[in-house]
Amino acid sequence: MTVLVTGGSGFVGLNVLEALLTGGETVISCDLGPVPGPALETFGSLSGTLHEETLDVRDRAAVLALLARFRPSKVVHAAAISPAAEAELEAAGNIVAVNIGGTVNILDAAYSAGADRIVILSSAAVYGRAGFRFPILTEETPAEPTSIYGISKFAAEQIALRYRDLGCDLAALRLGSIFGPWEHVTSVRGTISPMWQILEFAKQGRPIRLPRPGRRDWIYGRDVGAAVVATLDFPGRVPALVNIGAGSQWSVADFCSQMSEVGVALDWAIDPAEANIDYHGPRDRAPLSTVALREFLDFSPRFDIRSAIVDYLAWAEAKCRQVPRQDQA
Ligand SMILES: NC(=O)c1ccc[n+]([C@@H]2O[C@H](COP(=O)([O-])OP(=O)(O)OC[C@H]3O[C@@H](n4cnc5c(N)ncnc54)[C@H](O)[C@@H]3O)[C@@H](O)[C@H]2O)c1
Repeated sequence: MTVLVTGGSGFVGLNVLEALLTGGETVISCDLGPVPGPALETFGSLSGTLHEETLDVRDRAAVLALLARFRPSKVVHAAAISPAAEAELEAAGNIVAVNIGGTVNILDAAYSAGADRIVILSSAAVYGRAGFRFPILTEETPAEPTSIYGISKFAAEQIALRYRDLGCDLAALRLGSIFGPWEHVTSVRGTISPMWQILEFAKQGRPIRLPRPGRRDWIYGRDVGAAVVATLDFPGRVPALVNIGAGSQWSVADFCSQMSEVGVALDWAIDPAEANIDYHGPRDRAPLSTVALREFLDFSPRFDIRSAIVDYLAWAEAKCRQVPRQDQA
């Protein structure tokens, strides 16, 4: 199959590209910026074929022309901007233009080009306040987004679901809190994961001070890539709305402790007064229910905390993000 992926140069997009290319698919990656060099190098050895196109999803004419040219059988829409709270007001117009306007452009173009399936990446941010009022978040939990980002993702996913009502084969996936391979700092995302920050601090030999344990249903990037592919491959009509979470919880403190156990030299502590790791919010939301993911999409995440850490460290070391081991510290 030929799959067009928007936001293919971003963190999640790269995990989706890798999963698709590993499965031998032809992938057209569209983004404002290029696929990073180390990813291109890794993807070159995979069995699929990658084409890259520069695209601004706000440019309706360009989006329509590109999809008409490639006529992909499937489309994954990952392009979005997700600023940190401090940058939200300044970016409000652009958040709406990219996250809502860009989604409408992709939906129209995918529909006109005859795509068989469209997968829209939404976010647990749509739960907003509900994330602190309910013990678990199911797809039926009321969405109460608070940030402009969360509001824009909710609007985009709901517009997409209307296209589904009108006949598109489409699913919206609400992604939880992600960490793992291919995460990198971009100008459009202000919410870099604590795990990325910890690896960076470890590399620089800096002490790590956590604001709180940070218990959440953290999900590994490779599992997100695999869940997107499972949605694309799902036989028959896909479920409309599916949470993509790990189905289990652990804390950032557990992450630090297990990193030390596998031999990484970390000076870490929970120290709210001296915290230097940003969790991008003062509280941890409730976990996502994964019942729909398991029962309707027949998918279970593969990585637990330990196997994710081992894989993440191997990836980081291969990509020259050298993390000091205890015997070298
Ligand atoms: N990372 C997470 O923890 C997380 C959690 C929930 C949902 N999501 C969703 O996953 C998707 C991907 O997020 P990410 O974490 O990879 O972010 P990212 O910032 O790493 O990647 C987003 C990509 O979109 C591209 N982009 C931005 N504006 C564009 C435009 N106008 N035209 C074309 N491309 C544009 C960027 O260049 C970037 O490569 C988004 O829809 C996001 O809402 C991510």
